[in-house]
Amino acid sequence: FSAFLTDSFGRRHSYLRISLTEKCNLRCQYCMPEEGVKLTPRAQLLTTAEVLRLARLFVHEGVDKIRLTGGEPLIRPDVLDIIAELRKLEGLKTIAVTTNGMNLARLLPKLKDSGLDLLNISLDTLIPAKFEFIVRRKGFHKVMEGIDKALEMGYNPVKVNCVVMRGLNEDEILDFVALTEKKPIEVRFIEYMPFDGNKWNFKKMVSYQEMLDCIKQQWPALEMVPTGHADTAKGYKVPGFAGKVGFISSMSDHFCGSCNRLRLTADGNLKVCLFGNSEVSLRDELRSGATETQLLDIIGAAVGRKKKQHAGMLNLSKMKNRPMILIGG
Ligand code: GTP
Ligand code: 5AD
Ligand code: SF4
Repeated sequence: FSAFLTDSFGRRHSYLRISLTEKCNLRCQYCMPEEGVKLTPRAQLLTTAEVLRLARLFVHEGVDKIRLTGGEPLIRPDVLDIIAELRKLEGLKTIAVTTNGMNLARLLPKLKDSGLDLLNISLDTLIPAKFEFIVRRKGFHKVMEGIDKALEMGYNPVKVNCVVMRGLNEDEILDFVALTEKKPIEVRFIEYMPFDGNKWNFKKMVSYQEMLDCIKQQWPALEMVPTGHADTAKGYKVPGFAGKVGFISSMSDHFCGSCNRLRLTADGNLKVCLFGNSEVSLRDELRSGATETQLLDIIGAAVGRKKKQHAGMLNLSKMKNRPMILIGG
């Protein structure tokens, strides 16, 4: 495995998350302020050719999974071309997308044809009026339709991401678990994390342990299921149910020790951790004519500076970072 993608703690970074756009057709409260965020001028965003050149370089060094994020990745006009081009990269095993599901039902056949392997879909409530409140737009039924169509088309697993916030949707945890009785989806309950402009506070966060206790009162037989070494979620299922549930415990029980992720922002920065603001501009290097070797030196140095951990309760809310919309999760 490439030394450039291995950090000083021996973690191998074989998973690249590429943000394709800063724009989104929703306005989720936990992701961005109501007024939106200041967008980077178009000329400073990575072009398709730049995205593909960087992807090729990372895959050459050992990246075998790329997840496309945003903003909302499916609103980038050339998303299908990007997937189709990524599909040609030898060594890239998995192409995944994290989407809000708004345009999914319509795009799914083409996404599948382009070579998309995996889908994670965000949905934080099962109540249409609450959906409108959380995401500040209409569209609940479109997202549900997207989830069902992904299942129909054979996507497996279909992961549904639910950010749990006290006073907002923690009363729906059991309903989400109940949804896994018939639907073979994996619902992942995510601890609410602080990002710039999302008004996080400790009281709004519902911990993994608290969610688990709540579910076990209703389904005492809830059992743990195995997950991959570098998975963000701890996996569970109710025996006999078609689907699964998971918990992403970034705040109360972080999983930085097995981190295998790097991020490329839409404006071309390499971000070695979801948290913190340690970034380097690969866009500027590309545009000043850097060779692959020079790029790798810069990437290797950034990966080498990666900290042992950033997630966990301590001080995360005071740490300078970007708003989530400009990171992509
Ligand atoms: P898989 O590739 O299916 O494992 O998905 P994922 O969980 O990595 O990605 P997704 O985009 O679905 O994100 C789900 C949640 O996990 C979001 O809240 C992300 O912010 C969070 N997440 C993703 N990667 C990391 C990470 O490296 N560290 C932490 N702390 N959280 C992460
Ligand atoms: N805390 C936890 N998860 C978040 N996401 C967005 N903002 C936050 C936050 N503040 C999730 C979205 C999406 C994924 C990319 O990140 O729900 O599914
Ligand atoms: Fe858009 Fe995703 Fe952010 Fe919601 S979490 S506003 S869907 S980018």
